[in-house]
Amino acid sequence: MKPIQVGLLGIGTVGSGTFNVLTRNQEEIRRRAGRGIEITMVADLNVERAREIVGDRARVVADAREIIANPEIDIVIELIGGYGIARALVLEAISAGKHVVTANKALLAVHGTEIFAAASAKGVMVAFEAAVAGGIPIIKALREGLTANQVQWVAGIINGTTNFILSEMRDKGLDFDVVLKEAQRLGYAEADPTFDIEGVDAAHKATLMSALAFGIPVQFDKAHVEGITKLAAADIRYAEQLGYRIKLLGIAKRRDDVGGIELRVHPTLVPAKRLIANVEGAMNAVMVQGDAVGTTLYYGKGAGSEPTASAVIADLVDITRLHTADPDHRVPHLAFQADELRDTPV
Ligand code: NDP
Ligand code: HSE
Repeated sequence: MKPIQVGLLGIGTVGSGTFNVLTRNQEEIRRRAGRGIEITMVADLNVERAREIVGDRARVVADAREIIANPEIDIVIELIGGYGIARALVLEAISAGKHVVTANKALLAVHGTEIFAAASAKGVMVAFEAAVAGGIPIIKALREGLTANQVQWVAGIINGTTNFILSEMRDKGLDFDVVLKEAQRLGYAEADPTFDIEGVDAAHKATLMSALAFGIPVQFDKAHVEGITKLAAADIRYAEQLGYRIKLLGIAKRRDDVGGIELRVHPTLVPAKRLIANVEGAMNAVMVQGDAVGTTLYYGKGAGSEPTASAVIADLVDITRLHTADPDHRVPHLAFQADELRDTPV
């Protein structure tokens, strides 16, 4: 069977990782997907840099719309980021009947309702495993693995940049700004790192997890958001002396007493002997409490080129399997059918 044709929009940190891992593990991925998966077109503003990465293995264009207009392309991967052009391109790709894979939590947390509705109407899939906790398959866990449960809460370290900053400040006594620069150099931070350090990125991710866990619409505007910029080195030291670590946690919790879901991101004092207190660097860890399963813990690299690529490619494989088995297959994007979403106050 002819390989499924993929167009990649944006070949920066995650895009280059995706191209490289897909090329390196091509044969294994083909066997798992039941069909070859090929990135045949790449769009990036920096055409020269893109050509250096892909060589002659894919056609490079400057205009992402050339990819969307190509009837040969089955899946579009959006790895540009932000709410602007990325939103327009994702909606255009859906409208052109393409499945979409994205790592863009900002886009989905703010415009998810519109995007998922457009995809459902068109009968295409929008997959976003890479949008939360990098390489950890937490979306799959919430949507599939824990599907039998009433989830009581989801909580965790879901921003690699801030966890890296807090760890390096504590362990090496380095300054905030120095460590932030290093996080940017390592490809962990967002294009606008304010989203990381002010807790916005973690809130985007907590919003997506809450939608999956509790069957509510994506409601980023209802989240309480506090980052790490008001923390001083002394706060980290005092916490340590008292037997705690400061962690930026994203928390989504069922509140039956008020009939709603609590959604919050803020620095939290965690007892030093707890597992989650010992999650260091850019690692992420998410805990999910379900009524049947009890507490589960997911741990791994939460940011960076290839860890995130691992999640992007998992989505490509899923879509390839479903698309190949039944091109008209429809999946509920948030684990619940759209008409079953509860408009729960947060
Ligand atoms: P980068 O900034 O490294 O890559 C984005 C790429 O898109 C750049 O090469 C940029 O070109 C290009 N680009 C910008 N505008 C356009 C356009 N109109 N058409 C085509 N290409 C364009 O970002 P990342 O790879 O780090 O992030 C991509 C997405 O993945 C974001 O949504 C981010 O939030 C998400 N993500 C990132 C993770 C990470 O660890 N980095 C982890 C999980 C998710 P130029 O450089 O010339 O502007
Ligand atoms: N900037 C994000 C982080 C990338 O540091 O966690 C992964 O989503």
